[in-house]
Amino acid sequence: MPNALCNVLVLLSGSGSNLQALIDSSHTEGSQVRVCGVIANRADAYGLQRAEAAGIATALLDHTGFDGREAFDTALMALIDGFRPDLVILAGFMRILSGDFVRHYQGRLLNIHPSLLPLYKGLHTHQRALDAGDTEHGCSVHFVTEELDGGPLVVQAVIPVEPGDTAQSLAQRVHHQEHQIYPLAVRWFAEGRLRLGDQGALLDGLPLPASGHLIRL
Ligand code: GRF
Repeated sequence: MPNALCNVLVLLSGSGSNLQALIDSSHTEGSQVRVCGVIANRADAYGLQRAEAAGIATALLDHTGFDGREAFDTALMALIDGFRPDLVILAGFMRILSGDFVRHYQGRLLNIHPSLLPLYKGLHTHQRALDAGDTEHGCSVHFVTEELDGGPLVVQAVIPVEPGDTAQSLAQRVHHQEHQIYPLAVRWFAEGRLRLGDQGALLDGLPLPASGHLIRL
């Protein structure tokens, strides 16, 4: 969508520091990104306050009020589609999404994960990288498919693991990188440069490598 605004809907469950990074980047001159709404599944998600402070519409959909994943996801899809987003991004949304949900947003649903996928899908990624003795760690933005944390990669930031690193120190440095690469991927999408092709993610019409675009620090 060259030269048009891209409406981005953010789903989150917690602090929302990635949301904040996206809001900040959307305020830079020439940005085609507009955060059109934020939906949380937890009333205490601090990301809701960040959105309100930025004048962004918010909604709360508490999953505990639903009888099962399909019922919640159906209601969530209706709520999301009411915002008419061009792109939906998961930013610390602590829910596993049903196949129907993922298929509905195919090609317009991104996630960020705190590991160098395909390593360490799921939780406790920093500790798992330390336990494995990895010399590098990082974070990944990917298109969401039905495989948990498994869709085509768009961009990864790689950081060195330093002697004496703890899960906390790694988390902090990885988080800082998340705040760079998520707005970058969203900007590419908004500018019409990034899309999901039949074989994987494409940037400027060319296939990205299996690792996505690599940023090595
Ligand atoms: C990030 O570490 C992200 O990779 C993961 O959830 C966390 C969200 O952090 N999916 P925040 O709420 O954006 O601060």
